[in-house]
This record gives sequence, structure tokens and C-alpha cells, in this order.
Amino acid sequence: MSQKELFETTYHWIYPFLKKFYDLSGTLTPLAGEIDLNFKIETNQGEVFLLKLYDPNTDLDFLDFQEAILKYLNGESHKLPVPEIILNKEGHSTSVFKEDEFNIRKTRLLSWLDGRLYNDVNPQKENLRYSLGLFCGLLSNSLDNFDHPYAHREYPWDIAQGLWTQDHLDLFNSEERNILDYFLNQFSSIKQQYDLLRKAVVHNDANDYNCIVSEDLVDPQVVALIDFGDAIYTQVINDVAIACTYAIMGFEDPLEAAIPLLKGYHASYPLQEDELEVLYHCIAIRLVISVTKARINKLSDPDNPYLQISERPAWELLRKWIRINSEYAKYAFRDACGFSAHPERERFDQWANQRSFSLTALFPTLTKQEVYSLDLSVSSPWLGPALEFNNLDWFAYQIGQFQKENPTKILAGGYLEPRPLYTESSYDKIGNNGLESRCVHLGVDFWIPKKTPVHTLFDGEVVIAENDVGNKKYGGLVVLLHNEESFSFYSLYGHLSISQGANLKIGDRLNKGDLIGYIGDSDENGNWVPHLHFQLMLTLLDFKTDFPGVGYYSQKSIWESMCPNPNALFKIRELDQSQVPNKEDILKKRQAYLGKGMSLQYREPLHIVRGFGVYLIDQNGRKYLDTVNNVAHVGHEHPGVVQVGQRQMGVLNTNSRYIHPNITALADELMKTLPKELSVFHFVNSGSEANELALRMVKAATGSEEMFVSEVGYHGNTNGCIAISSYKFDGAGGKGAPENTHVFPMPDAFRGKYRGENTASNYCDEIQLLLDNLHANGKKLGGFIIEPILSCGGQVELPVGFLENVYPLIKNSGGLCISDEVQTGCGRMGKTFWGFELHGVIPDIVTIGKPLGNGHPVAAVVCTEEVAKKFANGMEFFNTFGGNPVSCAIAAKVLQVVREEKLQQNAHEVGNYLKTELKLLAEKYSILGSIRGQGLFLGVELIDSDGNPTATQTSYLVDRMKDYGILTSIDGPDHNVIKIKPPLIFSKSNAQFLLQTLRRVLDENAMHF
Ligand SMILES: Cc1ncc(COP(=O)(O)O)c(C=O)c1O
Repeated sequence: MSQKELFETTYHWIYPFLKKFYDLSGTLTPLAGEIDLNFKIETNQGEVFLLKLYDPNTDLDFLDFQEAILKYLNGESHKLPVPEIILNKEGHSTSVFKEDEFNIRKTRLLSWLDGRLYNDVNPQKENLRYSLGLFCGLLSNSLDNFDHPYAHREYPWDIAQGLWTQDHLDLFNSEERNILDYFLNQFSSIKQQYDLLRKAVVHNDANDYNCIVSEDLVDPQVVALIDFGDAIYTQVINDVAIACTYAIMGFEDPLEAAIPLLKGYHASYPLQEDELEVLYHCIAIRLVISVTKARINKLSDPDNPYLQISERPAWELLRKWIRINSEYAKYAFRDACGFSAHPERERFDQWANQRSFSLTALFPTLTKQEVYSLDLSVSSPWLGPALEFNNLDWFAYQIGQFQKENPTKILAGGYLEPRPLYTESSYDKIGNNGLESRCVHLGVDFWIPKKTPVHTLFDGEVVIAENDVGNKKYGGLVVLLHNEESFSFYSLYGHLSISQGANLKIGDRLNKGDLIGYIGDSDENGNWVPHLHFQLMLTLLDFKTDFPGVGYYSQKSIWESMCPNPNALFKIRELDQSQVPNKEDILKKRQAYLGKGMSLQYREPLHIVRGFGVYLIDQNGRKYLDTVNNVAHVGHEHPGVVQVGQRQMGVLNTNSRYIHPNITALADELMKTLPKELSVFHFVNSGSEANELALRMVKAATGSEEMFVSEVGYHGNTNGCIAISSYKFDGAGGKGAPENTHVFPMPDAFRGKYRGENTASNYCDEIQLLLDNLHANGKKLGGFIIEPILSCGGQVELPVGFLENVYPLIKNSGGLCISDEVQTGCGRMGKTFWGFELHGVIPDIVTIGKPLGNGHPVAAVVCTEEVAKKFANGMEFFNTFGGNPVSCAIAAKVLQVVREEKLQQNAHEVGNYLKTELKLLAEKYSILGSIRGQGLFLGVELIDSDGNPTATQTSYLVDRMKDYGILTSIDGPDHNVIKIKPPLIFSKSNAQFLLQTLRRVLDENAMHF
């Protein structure tokens, strides 16, 4: 009979049974289980229990064991939250349930533990895995002195007994068999050592259906473990292995996923070094048992889904696990438990401490001894954009300059330095938290001339002699093995010459002082400026022809232990000078020095030190996909823009009182994009300054200071701008609208005063009302200012026809129309170059800011001849910095790049794609209430089922996107709109990554309140 049928037949008998034995009645819910039938019972009095109907064949000793272990754990000194056995009316722990004459089931009633199953928790973050480890450790600690005869039984799920699976390999195809065979052989080879490990009774099944987790959606913790049916006397490490096995399924990088669990376990029940030696293999064997059991069960009980529940993820994990080097895994586990990752590290340190080597021994032809520490870190100020540092001539020139300035020193450094240099995609991978780049340098580089001979500092044997061909590879590479009395280590020499050298072969023996090779030129050293990459290693892991010279930041401590600092040999102070600024120090100073009104984004603020295209990069080399910074319009640190700025800065930067072609060239560039009516330019430094000037123009041209502004509009930080920014004067710390400012309702057809289609006329009537009131008070209108899409309002698109009807109203009453294009301008709209063009209107004044300088402070005000004439009333307009040749060169270049790289078209295409896909996503996730915007200026409004804003979820989503390496940000009066306004080079694949990550976070529990 299938489990389902069993449940059905048993069901009716349970009510009288419960009444008879426990005097209970209530609702029954069947629960999943491997062999027994389990029911959740909710009584009318609100009590909850678990009823277990044991399989009719259940061994009585087993029942006794279960009772003993639960009683023990519930005993005075333990008090871990585990189920308690409820005695029946006769005071017995077990009752008998007769299905029929042949099927007599023993039953037990257990207390119910509140919480949810680990399996239902999404995401299963590091903290949760840590808490799982912590709980498992506490349990092991509690069971330390417990024993029972039944715990010493034969049991197929016991890892220690796992070799039984060898007899079932014929159930698998050859690919599967190879994997299982590999792990079984490895396990057999360590079995002797494994058998000696400490043993105890352990839970033996901390899978995700047996762990109970708190209801907290943001930071859930494991609060209990249930089901002691698998408990057994075995190696303690098996329990850790089992918890790991299930907790790391589904992760891109399962080894990394296991680390927090291990840390948690070790914190509550310290593990021993020899246990960590075998953990990798134990995890593998648990998987082997699991897939073998599933295959056997499929044949015997095909209808019980519980029996195959983890087969697919187990195979996925096995296939990933086999690609992980078991030695590396051991080091990672040691590191997690606070041991030095490499067990011989201490011996190496002692050995190195007693010795000192001179650089002349390494490079006998160089007479220099002193070192100049060369900064190649992510934040290095001299290391420009990738286009420059990937240019060999440029790099060689820079090195040459440093060398000229420091003629008596060797340029060197780089140990553990996170570097921006490794831009090849082969250095990137998708890890558990999104994109990860291998960028932490593991050796020391010596920037010395090509053909410089390199000699060995110690006796050694050649173990690798390769030409590691390829861009940014080692080129000529030699690795030597050095055997010391009680340990051995390796030294690596990368970027050697291929054509000229000692022609070393594997197995060659070198004596201290022998020649290894010569520094290679760029065409033979992997396309680098000549230098030696010198690295020490305590292991080669499994590398035969190569060894990593850079590692992932997340694995830094493990690589640091495996690859000691080469300066341990030389002890040169300059070689250890870290150039990487310390985030905590900067934060402290910032808090002490800067105004408290200057906020930082994210609960854990970011320390960004470099920009590159669509990415912002932190001090550790982590790349964040930037979907927020519309200021970096043509991409962060666009090399063309950087170059014109740098060049002009080296020639002249002064004010606009002299004739200079750059200022008119910028006007020319802008002219190409604007309607002929907008033909007079004034250049300033910021969006605020542009709007401030526009206000002065209104006053000069109309004689009035009365302004019509939108609710939640924002136009800048100066006095004048704050006075027309409802976002500020109606927001925190604001004092409401000043006398001359008249606010109309935000024309938001989604959640504004008027909703739905065809609301333009309602919002237009509001403007008419303001006009009527103004005139009734004997006043005259000065101007009307609005963004074509309201950014701070939450990327709100104006209703169709709104501006088309409002502009004539304003103009007919003598007012001027200002289009604030500080956010929307310069091609971002995709369909049009300027936002006002979306609405078929021509403003009197246009203000331009943010994107114009790609990060450089330059802004502009464009107006009609008529306005310009009235503004030029005799008072000079002077601006010290506005219109300077550097700013103008930069802004003109930005506009050229938009044109030449077809970025408006890209905004149109990628923006449309993204908007369409977001709308599809909104069909599945009702929390996505509105998808709106144009081009690469989009908004996603989050609402609950009643249409109310969900600020908490929005902020959660933004934080989680950051965890996965994507920067997004929030706007809107209710803080519930995600704004998407990336650099215009944002590609379709960037959009896909954004969508995929968004989907992932939308599935998380906290998004489903
Ligand atoms: C629409 C709009 N106008 C004006 C400004 C002010 O620009 P800035 O910060 O360059 O002074 C901003 C700034 O965010 C803005 O979003």
C-alpha cells in the first residue's frame, strides 16, 4: 500500500483512538515521513501535538531507544528544545493502534515544536547555516555521555557503514558509477584513520525536514531538531557532515556554503583537526548513501516521493563536490575552525623567522637592495581605467617613470593586494552571492628589466617548467620544490623568458644560487610589462602545470595560509606596506568630520574605490552592477571622457571671460540635440545651480516669483531650489511651501489623487484651479517647473496629454515653462533625447545637470532668445567655474560618446526589453504593483494586496540585491519604488542578470508577508 493510501485508510480510526488513549480531539493533518505515519494534531483548545504511528515492523528496542534519548535530552541538565513524549491516560509512553488484525502499530504522542521547517526557509543565509551548526553542536554536546544498546546497530544511513553501497553500483550508469566509485575509493583509502576518530551517539539526520527554524523572516535561526529515528553511535564528524550535506545543496559553491555551519558547530562543540581531515569524504559518502538508497527505493516503493526527495539535488551536489579539491576543502574546514588552514604553516613561519635572504641572491645582477612599494590595488590613484592599464606601452611608461623617480630602488609589492588588473572573464565566476572576481594577488611582483637573471635562494627540484601561454597568463613558469628537515615548500617564478633560460626540465635539481631563468619580455610572459611574479606555496594542491597567482577575496585567509608572504624571507619593511585604505577608519573619521545630514546608503555601507563601465568596485575588488548612477551616463570612468578631461586640465582651466573653443563646441553639441527655439546657453556647475539660474530668469523675464511646482518634486539643494521642492519642504525637516510656491498634486495615475487612464484633464484642472486662485489674489504667474518623468516622486510618468494641455495654460497666463532635465536628459529616455520631447512640448527653459559631465560637475541652462534677452538686463552673469574649458571639453565629449556609441538607441532597446520583462514578472509577483518609465529610466512600485506601499519589503529587496552584487535604490514619497537608471551602456545581459537576481529575491520569504 502506498503512503497516501495508508494515510487514507488510517485516518478515520485515529479520532476514536485519540479520544480513547489521550482524551484528545481536534484536526488532523498528515505529514511527510520516510517509514512511519505522522500526523499533526491541533486540538480545539489550541494545543498542538505530533502523533507518530510507527511502522508495524518497528523494533521494540528502537522504541525504547527513542524514549531514552528524548527523556535524556529533556532531562534537567540538557533542556534543548526537542520533542517531549506525552504519556497516555494509563501513563504509558506507547499506545497500540490496531489497523486490522495484522497491522498493529505502536504509536507515540509528542509535543509540537513551534517554527517552520528549514526546507521552507528562503534564503538560507550564512547566519541561518551558522545557527544550524551551533544547534547541532549543542546537541552533540548534550549527547556526549549518552549511550544505549540500540545505538550500536547496523544501519545503512551510518556514514561509517557506508561502504555497503559498493554492492549496488550496477544500479547506475557509467558516468554516475565513476563518481560514486571515486568517492568510495577515497573513503576506503582513509578508512583506517577514520575508524580511530572519536565516537558518540549523534542525531545523524539533520536534514532540512528535521530542523525547525524561527519565524523571523529576515534573520531566522535554527531553534530545534526533531526526529531522532536515525540516531546512532558513530564518528561525531558524521553528524556535521550530514548537516552540511543537506544545508549546502543548491548552492553554486557548496564548499563555501558549508563554512558558516562548521563555524557554528565548532563554536558550540569544538572539532578536532583529524576530524576535519575526513569531513570532505564524509559528506561525499552521505551523498553516495542517499543516491543509492533513492535508486533502491525507486524500485521497491515508487510511489513514496519522500524516499526520493533529495536524489536530484544530491546528484547535483556530487557533481560539484567531485570538482572540489579535497585537500583544499580540508584547508577551508581548518580555517573555519580557527586552525591555520595549512597544517605546516607554523613550521614554515618558524623556519623563515630564523633566516634572512637578500634580494641580490634572487637577482645577482641587480645592485639595488631597497624597495619602492608599488601600489596596484583597486584604489591605486595612478592606475587609470582598464583601457590604459591594459595598454602595455602605457603601463611600461608608468613603470619607467616610477623607476626614474626612484633610481636606487626595486619597484615591488602586491602580496594579498586586491587588484583591478585581471579583467579577463576567466577571472570571474558566479558564486553564492553573485559575481566574484579572482583578484587578490598571492605573490610579490618585482618590476625589473627583461633579461634580468633570476636565481634560486635554496636548493630545490623542478616540479613545473611550463610555457603558460595566453593573455595575462604566466608565460615562462618554473616551480621548485624545497625539502627542509621537517616540511617542504614550493617557490614559483612567473613571467620568465621562454627563448632564453636555463632550459629546466621537471626533475632537475638546483643548488642554492643556481640560475632559474631570465625575466621575459611582453611577447613571452603573458602580455605583461616585464616583471617577476614570485610566490611561495606550502602545497601544489592538484595543479600540475600551473598554480593560481591570484585568489578570490572570500577565500583570502585560506590562500594566505597556503601561500606565505614571500617577504618572510627578505624582511623588507617597504614590501609589507599595505596601500589599501581601511574602511573602518574612514567611517570613523567621516562620522567625526562630516555633517550628520549626509547619509550613507545601506545598513552595511559600501566602500567604493573604483568605477568601470557599468560596475562600481569596492576596496576588496568586489564588482557591483550599478543600476542607479545615471550620473555616470556613458559608463563609469569612460576612458574617452577621462582622457579629454585630463588633457585639458594639463593645458588650461580658467573662467569663461576669455575666448575658448571648448565652450562654443559644447554649445554646438547641445544645439544638435535641441529644437531651434532653445538656442541660448549658460553654463554652471550643478543641477541646483541650473535651476537657481532658471528661477532668476523667470523673475527677470516675467517680473513674478510665483511658481507652480509638483507635489514631491525635487529641483536642488540651494535656498531657491528647496523653495520649489515639495520633496524637501513637505518632507522631514521641511517647513511647508513658501508663500510664492503653489503645489499641484503629483500627476501620478497609479496612486495619485486621480487614478487610471485619462487622468490628464483632472490634473490639468488642478493647474487651472491654482491659476484661478492666484489671479483671484491679484497675483501673476512667474513659472511652472516639472521633470518630464518625476524621479523623486518614484519614476512617475506624466499622464498622456498633461504637459500638452498645461503648457498653453501657463504660457497664455504669461508664465514660463521650465523642463528640469537634470535626470531625464541626454538620451536616457531612449525614444527621445530630452524628456520634454516625449510630451510634444517646447519649454522656455531647460535645465541640464547630472549626466552632462559623467561625474564631473558641469551643468547648463538653455533658454529661448526671448527669455535670454530679458535676463540680460545689464547685470553681468559671472560664474567662476561654469563654462571652464575642462568642464566644457568633458561635457562635449559625453554628448559625442552618446552619439557615437549609439547610447540613446541602447537605452531604447535595453530599456524596452527590461520594462517588458519586468511587466511579465509583475504578472507573477503581485507585490510589483506598477512598472513604468521610459528608456533606461524605470520605476518598479511595490505594494501589498490592498494596494498600500510596502516600504519594508522595498528596503529588504534593495539590501538583498546588494548582497548579490547589484546596486539599486529607492524613491517615492512612500519609499516603495525601486528606481532603475543605470549608465546608458547597460546591456541586455546586464538586464538579464538584474532580472534573474530580482526573481531570486522576490521568491524570498520576507517578500511574502
Ligand atoms: C530633478 C533634479 N533636479 C535638480 C537636481 C539638483 O542637482 P545637483 O544635485 O546637481 O545640484 C537634482 C538632483 O538630484 C534632481 O534630481
